[in-house]
Amino acid sequence: MSDPKSILKKLQDLIRGESDFVSILSNTSALLYQDLPNVNWLGFYLWQEDEQELLVGPFQGKVACYRIKTKQGVCGTAFSRKTSIRVANVHQFPGHIACDPDSKSELVVPLTRKGEVIGVIDIDSAQVNRFSQEDQELVEACAKILDPYL
Ligand code: SME
Repeated sequence: MSDPKSILKKLQDLIRGESDFVSILSNTSALLYQDLPNVNWLGFYLWQEDEQELLVGPFQGKVACYRIKTKQGVCGTAFSRKTSIRVANVHQFPGHIACDPDSKSELVVPLTRKGEVIGVIDIDSAQVNRFSQEDQELVEACAKILDPYL
């Protein structure tokens, strides 16, 4: 576990000098999964222009659903609105997609390339109300660091 500033510094150090999309997202998911406490799934859903849906990308955690339609679930909703969504209790989010029945709360943040939304970062916790405004700002700052590398 680390404080937000050191997580951001670790992320900058981790991706500096690398240019491979999959490798950067893989190591980012590993870093955040290790450093954010009480997280049971953390990874990326990436927009597929041809299929018009999100497809699971690099992640840490249990096996997850492959594809999510835009406006479906927390991920598809955050993607289509181009905004972060924090869900304190996933059972109260209409249309929530339960990949892991242990998940109780969720944070989804848009992933961008040159400011264009290309997917989402999805983080689940087995704790109700796990994610704070501070967590949201941290993950949004991570997305901002990633943007020029993607
Ligand atoms: N719960 C997400 C689906 C993805 S999994 O959590 C890994 C949703 O409702 O979009």
